[in-house]
Amino acid sequence: MQGFNVAIDGTSGVGKSSAADLLADANQMIHLDTGAMYRCVALAMEEAGIDPEDESELQSLLDTMKIRFEGRRVFLNDREVTTQIRTNRISNLTSRIAALPAVRARMTGLQQQTTAAGGYIVDGRDIGTVVLPDAAIKIFLSARPEARARRRYDEYRQKGIDADYDRILEDIRQRDWQDSHRSTAPLKKAEDAVEIDTSDLTLDQVVTAIQSLIDGARK
Ligand code: DC
Repeated sequence: MQGFNVAIDGTSGVGKSSAADLLADANQMIHLDTGAMYRCVALAMEEAGIDPEDESELQSLLDTMKIRFEGRRVFLNDREVTTQIRTNRISNLTSRIAALPAVRARMTGLQQQTTAAGGYIVDGRDIGTVVLPDAAIKIFLSARPEARARRRYDEYRQKGIDADYDRILEDIRQRDWQDSHRSTAPLKKAEDAVEIDTSDLTLDQVVTAIQSLIDGARK
């Protein structure tokens, strides 16, 4: 029997990661941020100068790279890369390399191994459909692109980073298109997932809605 895991899928900037963090803390579970794993692959490929077309180089990088989480901190081969993997350049590169079947196969395997015993809130794009088709709870978060661009813009400004709203919106649209049109594991709502449109909800409201599903499933 598979352990108790919660799958949260959805587009970028929809609040998956923040909701997963809060839910993991409240339920003594662990948040597995699969987007961060794909981001690590992109960073490692960029640093090693690997051409995505070169299958054997890519495979050996995938077989040897180590990704580790310590709470909210992310380590690639024992070096902290928590902020380095969040730049716009890495976001765009990640969206492209996440379409590669070899990358998806390796990440899916790692994610399944990690979560096998249960106790994880896993956020991503293909968790309910491919990685954990038997997850106890599947959530699909959506939001209008403009609402997501506004949130990301506010986030950057809060951190004192210069940001251009139109550019962010354009990037979001482009990544959505790439994430939902790739042939391997495209972003798609699982048939049995509960969809929550977060455009007009606060983070607390999203968390409360998911928490009530967790409570219901555990009864
Ligand atoms: O959730 P995020 O924005 O950190 O994800 C970064 C990229 O990785 C995004 O382009 C989608 C991709 N991704 C994916 O293809 N599958 C996942 N399970 C998680 C992320």
